[in-house]
Amino acid sequence: MIVYQLTSGTIEHTDVKGGSHLFVRASATQIGRFLDAQQTFRRHLWVPSPGAPVLMGAPTSPAANAAPRRRSGNARNVIGTSLPIYIDLSAASEGHLAILGMTKMGKTTLAARLANRLAATRAVVILDLTGEYVGKRGLPKYVGHEQLEAPGLSVWEILPGELPADKLLKFMRRILAELATPEYQKGDPFPRTLIIDEAHQFIPEPAGIGFNAPGVMNHTKSGY
Ligand SMILES: Nc1ncnc2c1ncn2[C@@H]1O[C@H](COP(=O)(O)OP(=O)(O)OP(=O)(O)O)[C@@H](O)[C@H]1O
Ligand SMILES: [Mg+2]
Repeated sequence: MIVYQLTSGTIEHTDVKGGSHLFVRASATQIGRFLDAQQTFRRHLWVPSPGAPVLMGAPTSPAANAAPRRRSGNARNVIGTSLPIYIDLSAASEGHLAILGMTKMGKTTLAARLANRLAATRAVVILDLTGEYVGKRGLPKYVGHEQLEAPGLSVWEILPGELPADKLLKFMRRILAELATPEYQKGDPFPRTLIIDEAHQFIPEPAGIGFNAPGVMNHTKSGY
């Protein structure tokens, strides 16, 4: 069984000889095939056959009865099903993880929960422009390098008027020069996670999209 999540549906009208009729066209995004042994989804790399049956509603799966393999301890289900979703924290820490969602969808709440979990085994620093993590959630402020040398959680607040991209760059350079590079050279780097809330605010503004901006074709010179 391959699970799809409906993303939209429209009722359309078609003319046929001698009359017309309405039909429903649905769009869906593939979630994948649920693997019971691994308790996870794997994408099915092909389209459904034309005419293949589509079943609506909550699919039942042996997964619902099997004892779930608790990775993060925060199992939730794919909406409308009993199929569990996990975040594999060790896999998430090996590379980059983006938490995307509309305003007030719970991005910061999820980030704070992940931070708490990760802080058991690594040094976690949250870069925060909003003041939420210390002010509303009571997390400790970042005060010095020693917090980066043992498991734990701290919040580095970027104050109004400071340039987020500059602060982040300076922070990264310092961590690299004073901690990460020497540790890497010794062959024993300490695990650290950096969480950037409102990450888009840390990307320097492009110089503009008008005339003569870097990366924008100069219309006058190229003769258009
Ligand atoms: N899983 C959840 N279930 C129910 N409510 C939640 C959940 N996660 C967060 N909330 C609530 O939703 C509200 C918004 O959460 P949060 O601040 O984490 O969202 P956000 O996506 O970071 O918002 P913003 O776009 O403003 O940064 C909060 O009141 C929070 O308590
Ligand atoms: Mg937020």
